[in-house]
Amino acid sequence: MTNFQSQSEFQTDEDFAIARDERDPLKEFRQLFLFPKTAAGDDCIYLCGHSLGLQPKTAAAYVEQELKDWAQLGVEAHFRARNPWMPYHRLLTEQTAELVGAKPLEVVVMNSLTVNLHLMMVSFYRPTPRRHKIVVERGAFPSDQYAVKSQIHFHGFDPATSLIELTPRSGETCLREEDIESLIERTGHDIALIMLGGVNYATGQAFDMARITRAGQARGCVVGFDLAHAAGNLHLKLHEWGPDFAVWCSYKYLNGGPGCAAGCFVHERHARAWELPRFAGWWGHDEESRFEMGPNFRAMPGADGWQLSNPSIVSLAVLRASMDIFYEAGMERLRTKSVSLTSYLEFLLSQYASPNFSIITPREKERRGAQLSIRVPSNGRALCERLTEEGIVGDWREPDTFRVAPVPLYNSYRDVFRFVRRFTAVIGENVR
Ligand SMILES: Cc1ncc(COP(=O)(O)O)c(C=O)c1O
Repeated sequence: MTNFQSQSEFQTDEDFAIARDERDPLKEFRQLFLFPKTAAGDDCIYLCGHSLGLQPKTAAAYVEQELKDWAQLGVEAHFRARNPWMPYHRLLTEQTAELVGAKPLEVVVMNSLTVNLHLMMVSFYRPTPRRHKIVVERGAFPSDQYAVKSQIHFHGFDPATSLIELTPRSGETCLREEDIESLIERTGHDIALIMLGGVNYATGQAFDMARITRAGQARGCVVGFDLAHAAGNLHLKLHEWGPDFAVWCSYKYLNGGPGCAAGCFVHERHARAWELPRFAGWWGHDEESRFEMGPNFRAMPGADGWQLSNPSIVSLAVLRASMDIFYEAGMERLRTKSVSLTSYLEFLLSQYASPNFSIITPREKERRGAQLSIRVPSNGRALCERLTEEGIVGDWREPDTFRVAPVPLYNSYRDVFRFVRRFTAVIGENVR
């Protein structure tokens, strides 16, 4: 049953939203986050967790602990802090593995997303004259486009002949899985790397990562995913689905704060692939002998072996605060609520159907996460700005898309109700 069919479970009045919030098994988690305030001092209606997640109230204490250890212990804190900094990133390994459905050996938190994407392509984009193409979605996030094009150039190829951009059918906004699959079947022998977003940042479309991985690997292609909009949003099973690598940032659904250290997955089958080229740094070196300061690099097994630098402990501390909350809520429960909350948002918007806006995100729950992308053909930016002034926070993506995501960890049915009431009222005034 698609979420569209199940929408009859919803009602249009505010009491319905209030009653649903009361019954929500995750309702207590909202109290754990700091909401930006309106001029009147009320909590904003914050539907922007797909861009920057909210700050956990516990984040400050996690950071303060590290500042205190630094003040009291100086360099010795690497070994004697309450949570010694040397192995600090390990504190995130189990939870990160669980979050993305991986084995601990397969994940590491390090660097930032685009850096990790480059590191992965250094190892996994190995073009040859016969097989040199990279497949991306047309309109992939710009940083991904720049990264793949620069990798193509780096290897002496030309994006004009080495980049395939998947394009929706004429008159459609999202890609069809069968079209992706058939392209891979037809041209897979030329394709070195398939690199898609798990959820497209603009349309909110979630891809069938298991199916794409199967199709790609059957044709000998390497498969990687950018999970910026999928980590902490979808219920991921990376080990089982089997892509070669994945990367994601931690400041959206994962609430790690701006520029927080990012995630990286390398499938177990590559854990000891010492022959793979990689850009090396001392933090990826075998930790038993790291401080012998020898000249020759020996990588640690698994994703850890791709680390470059010692990480920012302050950044990891914030992420720990958030991951402890995530771990307690559990991805399965979060996804269940998310499906319902986003369906409710779609249901309410559909009550006000008008030519002034349309939802471009797929309707089927398997093909989207929390986010709905609303196309506003006229005066959309002004609409977004007006709502932001009122304390109703989504975001605008050129040329015509207003993105909103009710995040199951801290958003409520009432947030959704109040958003739709104002959105539809303002759009009526704003668009002439
Ligand atoms: C899909 C996607 N890829 C890449 C990036 C770039 O991330 P970073 O600046 O952390 O490298 C973003 C940032 O929002 C993104 O949404």
